[in-house]
Amino acid sequence: MLTKDEIKKRVAVAALDYVQSGMTIGIGTGTTAWWLVEALGEKVKNGFTCICVPTSKETAEHARSLGIVLKELNEIDAIDITIDGADEMDTSLNLIKGGGGALLQEKMVAAASKKYCIIAGAEKKVSTLGAFPLPVEVVPYGWKQVKHRLEQAWKAQVNLRKKHKPFVTDHGHYIIDCHFKSIPDPASLNSQLHLIPGVVETGLFVQMADIVLLANNDGSVEVL
Ligand code: 5RP
Repeated sequence: MLTKDEIKKRVAVAALDYVQSGMTIGIGTGTTAWWLVEALGEKVKNGFTCICVPTSKETAEHARSLGIVLKELNEIDAIDITIDGADEMDTSLNLIKGGGGALLQEKMVAAASKKYCIIAGAEKKVSTLGAFPLPVEVVPYGWKQVKHRLEQAWKAQVNLRKKHKPFVTDHGHYIIDCHFKSIPDPASLNSQLHLIPGVVETGLFVQMADIVLLANNDGSVEVL
């Protein structure tokens, strides 16, 4: 039986079929994307050339340590492909992301990409999003007001993400995890959340993914 890490590595390596030398590649954040960065680093060591745009400080540090050339989003015109993990995906390939707290940069990099490829374990596929708590990135100023509005409007359990003290994103914001349980209309929820003053971004990635690679427990990879 394959370990969780071996399965993550399989799906990350499968995504390399979509990259070519000379491309600008967005690189994701999380434990699955970690294997992608490793695999790209190995390719670069063997002469593959690319410019990578990281989706978090953590990924930037990892990629830099492997000799991968990095650029900021402001330094490039467009990204050929971004490859990233996800926390949940529905049958229309809508996603919940942000379990690792990098949703804002991940969404900005994805939006600048010609192709957006998701790599994940098959268990992340669901019929309706929402079992995974939706991360909502908020400005620290007045965050309790935002939390209160979320609780009142959706009658949902919402928690400020923290471990002893609040989790702070790469861009200096807080995250409120919202237990909606079921999100039948992700586009509508995303729009409604964006109307709340203080909300910076949501972990709903609606109609953004072009390709989803899902790894099964036997290591086979399914393409959606
Ligand atoms: C980070 C993310 C990750 O892509 C998502 O949490 C999946 O992570 P993992 O591959 O570790 O399950 O959105 O903000």
